[in-house]
Amino acid sequence: MKNQGIVIIDFGSQYTFLIARRLREIGVYTEIVGPLIEDLSSNPNVKGVILAGGPQSVTDADAKQIPAWIQKLPAPVLGICYGMQGLVQQDGGKVVSKSNAAESAKQKREYGKETMVIQAVENLLADIPQKSTVWMSHGDHCETLPTGWKSLAESSTGVCVAAQKENRFGIQFHPEVVHTEHGTRILKNFAIPICELKADWQSTSIIAKAQQQIRGCVQEGNVLMACSGGVDSTVAALLLAKTIGAERVRAVLVDHGLLRQNEAAWVKKELAGAGFDGLEVLQEQERFLAALAGVTDPEEKRKIIGRTFIEVFENYAKRFPDIKHLGQGTLYPDVIESAGAGFGAHKIKSHHNVGGLPEKMQLKLVEPFRDLFKDEVRMVGKELGLSEKLLMRHPFPGPGLGIRVLGEVTAEKCDILRRVDDIYMTGLQDHGLYHQTWQAYAGLLPVKTVGVMGDGRSYLDTVVLRAVDAQDGMTASASELPHSFLQEISNKIIREVAEVGRVFYDCTGKPPGTIELE
Ligand code: XMP
Repeated sequence: MKNQGIVIIDFGSQYTFLIARRLREIGVYTEIVGPLIEDLSSNPNVKGVILAGGPQSVTDADAKQIPAWIQKLPAPVLGICYGMQGLVQQDGGKVVSKSNAAESAKQKREYGKETMVIQAVENLLADIPQKSTVWMSHGDHCETLPTGWKSLAESSTGVCVAAQKENRFGIQFHPEVVHTEHGTRILKNFAIPICELKADWQSTSIIAKAQQQIRGCVQEGNVLMACSGGVDSTVAALLLAKTIGAERVRAVLVDHGLLRQNEAAWVKKELAGAGFDGLEVLQEQERFLAALAGVTDPEEKRKIIGRTFIEVFENYAKRFPDIKHLGQGTLYPDVIESAGAGFGAHKIKSHHNVGGLPEKMQLKLVEPFRDLFKDEVRMVGKELGLSEKLLMRHPFPGPGLGIRVLGEVTAEKCDILRRVDDIYMTGLQDHGLYHQTWQAYAGLLPVKTVGVMGDGRSYLDTVVLRAVDAQDGMTASASELPHSFLQEISNKIIREVAEVGRVFYDCTGKPPGTIELE
């Protein structure tokens, strides 16, 4: 530990980096480590330890262990979710596992939003209303607290969600996700009064750090910057140009036939407006659609798209031997969700810009935002002078419509979806709803449904509209779009897109769903 601060021990949760980020926002230094870290109990810089979550059950035979040295650590400890269960179990308490059939029958499994009712509004839970919303993601819970522990709060179904013994604390929910109403306050209560830290950690400017990384990585040769039109790759392109000079950055947008309506032209215009002339659009629709023909498995589709992207970039780079690097706007959530974080997070999906890289790639990757979250990248973009319109664009995944046309992808299906999506996006903009949601899109389902049109029976395609509220895409809830708006859009779609006969709205949160359908 280089500075005074909090060590976060990760047990494979998707959310661990968010804890570090919240604490960074509070102004407290943090480091994330794995459970096998050496004994830190006598390190004077360790002012507190957070035991983060994990997908396992602490009752599993192969469960990752809470390090034994935690017991002799003089500094305060906060166990979150798996961390709380581990702490309680280590001290002799009883944890009920979701995988134990007999127990799970009587157990109240809690996922998603829950109400926390506080019994002791002090200490860790100081300055928090007696009732508030918290976010759960684990089926296990502590049934019996060990001697010396007291319950600080319960859920509406009577499960202990916060407990304390001296300077040991446990919470059953995730304070780091935005859906926990007073989560940041809880982390602040732990870091500042309890760990006696000051909010004085000035993290070196994100820009300076990213530029340092670029300089370290790109020592010679030029960079092929893979632009998608999204915020991340656009900001990365600008930052690369600012750091190593625009003449060393070749910006390329691959039109894989899986883009939205008029996307390539719009992006070219926006980039020119932001001072990036000469974005090259590569027309590769046929290559991608041919590679995807007959494939229905989502992971397979993602891998094919990823591989084809790299193939296109490699071919391009062969024409320009001065290119030695491939720039990408990869973000930290892409890295952890592809299980690249190193501490064992469960794999959910292969994001194309991480998971699909061929082993023997000829170019070296430059990913200046690999440790950042989207809103941090937006802050960087703002400083670089990008337009609000571009910066506040909804995220769009690299595999594009390839993961929104469910099942086999064809040019015809993409065309139908483009028209539907355009009606939806334009509608959101026109009704002033676009910026009220974090991300919205339409998907084409691989089913037809029966309807009645005019005097006849119809048997037509089905589309789904999705809109989510989120902060960084790690968790999300379905946006509460006005019913009248949804009805208007649904009517317009059916009126104007002859192939579609039915429109659904997706109400699933993340978890348990993901934002994209595949
Ligand atoms: P999920 O579906 O994993 O999406 O909840 C979280 C966020 O990531 C975007 N996403 C991707 N972005 N390449 C990307 O660049 C991908 O392969 C990819 N898959 C999902 C998704 O749109 C959402 O914003």
